[in-house]
Amino acid sequence: MAAPDPSRIKRVLVVDDEENIRHLLLVVLKKAGFEPTAAPGAREALDLLASEQFGVVISDVRMPGMDGQALLTAIRGLPLDPAPYVLMMSAYGGADMALECVKAGAYDYFNKPFRADEVVLLLNKILEREELREENLKLRAALDGRVRFDDIVGRGEAMQKIFDTVRKIARYKTTVLLTGESGTGKELLARAIHRHSDRGDGPLVPVNCGAIPENLLESELLGHVKGSFTGATRDKRGLFAEADKGTIFLDEVGELPLPLQVKLLRVLEDEVVRPVGSTTSRQVDVRVIAATSRDLDRRVEEGRFREDLFYRLNVMHVRIPPLRDRGEDVTVLVDHFLRRFNERFARTVSGLEPDAMSAVLSYRWPGNVRELENAIERAMILSDGDRLPLDVFPPTVRDAHGRPSARTIDTEDLSIKRRVPVLEAELIRAALMQTAGNRTHACKLLEISHRALLYKMKDYGIDVPSRRTP
Ligand SMILES: Nc1ncnc2c1ncn2[C@@H]1O[C@H](COP(=O)(O)OP(=O)(O)OP(=O)(O)O)[C@@H](O)[C@H]1O
Ligand SMILES: [Mg+2]
Repeated sequence: MAAPDPSRIKRVLVVDDEENIRHLLLVVLKKAGFEPTAAPGAREALDLLASEQFGVVISDVRMPGMDGQALLTAIRGLPLDPAPYVLMMSAYGGADMALECVKAGAYDYFNKPFRADEVVLLLNKILEREELREENLKLRAALDGRVRFDDIVGRGEAMQKIFDTVRKIARYKTTVLLTGESGTGKELLARAIHRHSDRGDGPLVPVNCGAIPENLLESELLGHVKGSFTGATRDKRGLFAEADKGTIFLDEVGELPLPLQVKLLRVLEDEVVRPVGSTTSRQVDVRVIAATSRDLDRRVEEGRFREDLFYRLNVMHVRIPPLRDRGEDVTVLVDHFLRRFNERFARTVSGLEPDAMSAVLSYRWPGNVRELENAIERAMILSDGDRLPLDVFPPTVRDAHGRPSARTIDTEDLSIKRRVPVLEAELIRAALMQTAGNRTHACKLLEISHRALLYKMKDYGIDVPSRRTP
């Protein structure tokens, strides 16, 4: 559907076989600030609609030849986007006729003779409705822009900071180290960083360092020449060479065996690779993003990860907190996955039943976003209603219902001075979201004065398009 455009509503097409009605409406509408055009019949109206854009069509019902109802049907069948609002008028018919017209797709109906101000009022109502639609779309876009970075969503401070960092570092060739528990979105983030870099059109080569057998890992990464070992029946380009002019994503880098760590360090420092069994090296231009769900510091202490390699990888460190420490993200993630699976399964699920939502908010999600994503997918498959009930969630999640919320505070920072304003800004955003930007309603929910709300919004830089009380 095309974006709403209130100004299009000003262009009104008047269709009536009676000259004096056309004239009257032209005068009245012009005076009220509209830009009316008149047509003496349905055919002429359709010709005009084919070449010009109108926001509203006002048509008489009874006309010789093609009548108003046939015109309405014809307009509904036109591939117009946006389709015009159609108002019908008639001296005959009354309530039945009105109902029939509205059922056939008219926006409204009025009787002849009509009062000029009545018609203008109707048009102004349409205009207002279109303005509202436009504001709502803007509001949604504004909120969307804040909670998402490509396909990564997150509303809390932690993810917002990560989005900022990624925006800043993506275009440089810095090595990035992503850490976070399993399922927190490390790979998703790595792909976003690659996409936003100037090598985004180049290859992104993921390597799962933990999944390749140790004896093959070197030749996988660096390549080999034919005959260099049993089974090397032909030359093989390594993954580093594949990633030339692009990015290599070294997933589970903590699993890399020590001897290979030395080789990797050399590649990172010299940007040259020498395939196994080869005497010549080759220059490569590769950006490295590494990820691990392990505690690399500990592995360094234990002597299982080389300290020099650790420092080489740890140029930019992005730590993704576990989902249980970013409760603010759960609702937007749920929304995100509902939308995604609605699309994939052609469903129209609009949300979760209150007890299911409460369980989802209280559960600790040890498998992080991946576990949440799977739970929503499963729940959608198991239910056929438009709201997901509690009993389609796994028992572990169900058990969390009624427990105190897992929105336990991120215990890394306990400063009241720093944390309270963050919570306050969260509440204000939530209230504005719930009221579609209506300040008057939002300040009631927040139990603060209108002035205080405006002041705080300014203070926190919350910029949501305003909507008046209807
Ligand atoms: N912030 C997020 N917004 C949207 N989807 C997310 C987010 N974080 C993770 N996901 C989704 O969760 C799933 C797991 O993410 P991903 O594979 O990136 O995690 P990971 O940290 O690499 O996990 P592992 O350590 O197990 O490999 C993916 O389907 C991903 O799309
Ligand atoms: Mg991963």
